[in-house]
Amino acid sequence: MLYRELGTTGLQVSAIGMGTWNIGNQWGQIDETTALATIRSAFDSGVNIFDTAESYGIPSGLSEERLGKALVGIRDRTHLVTKIGRWGRRTGQTVPMTTVDMIRLCTHASLYRLQTDYIDVLLCHEGKIEDPSIYLAGFEQLKAAGTIRAYGISTDHLDVLKRFNADQTCSVVEVDYSLLSRNPEQEFLPYCQEHGIGVLVRGPLHKGLLSGQYSTETRFTDAVRSEWYESDRSHEN
Ligand SMILES: NC(=O)c1ccc[n+]([C@@H]2O[C@H](COP(=O)([O-])OP(=O)(O)OC[C@H]3O[C@@H](n4cnc5c(N)ncnc54)[C@H](OP(=O)(O)O)[C@@H]3O)[C@@H](O)[C@H]2O)c1
Repeated sequence: MLYRELGTTGLQVSAIGMGTWNIGNQWGQIDETTALATIRSAFDSGVNIFDTAESYGIPSGLSEERLGKALVGIRDRTHLVTKIGRWGRRTGQTVPMTTVDMIRLCTHASLYRLQTDYIDVLLCHEGKIEDPSIYLAGFEQLKAAGTIRAYGISTDHLDVLKRFNADQTCSVVEVDYSLLSRNPEQEFLPYCQEHGIGVLVRGPLHKGLLSGQYSTETRFTDAVRSEWYESDRSHEN
């Protein structure tokens, strides 16, 4: 496994990380034993960075809980990335991210589910946010308290990233990038390079289309993927 520094965070991370969107039953049921074993086998294969979010899982938070359980005993040899801002979107019971205390409330809940007292990278999970000032104020407080080591945003939009990085404090961005979605190569990735922002790639297999497992006839039944190929006709190219 290759390891490299994530931007200028000082974190030495594996070039391949594990995403846990589907470890919490949102992409079809996965029993707990299989979920925990999958995470440990990734670690045993050299993966030391794990991506999750408060909203992942049915119920929400299940992916963080399972990740927390799986990393017991090896937490200090791994780097955790989680995201806040989309809690309850699926059920309509959202948390209004309107004060710094709400940012702290959601972050502390993630710490509890992840069974840890610090998060390596905390991301804003609102990819089209107009005014990030509350997140930035909350993240700065959490960083000063040692609760988070670095912070950033998950977005595909350069204007959103520039607003979030207005004071040059954004350390990490998560962006959709694959052979079938190369837009970030235009301006987005050059901007990250210029500003020393570490990049986490989501959707590297374009939702599985580049994995060779699926064909134009594939249809999923789970809540997340059932729409995947409906709107996305790029796999016909
Ligand atoms: N807004 C955000 O920040 C955001 C949004 C989306 C995703 N993410 C993060 O990015 C992670 C990954 O992105 P993604 O889930 O969108 O899609 P992806 O990684 O592009 O594709 C995942 C799909 O590829 C298949 N696959 C994965 N590894 C494979 C392998 N080695 N061989 C064959 N098939 C393989 C899996 O199929 P099977 O599971 O069916 O085997 C899965 O359906 C997520 O788990 C999440 O952590 C973040």
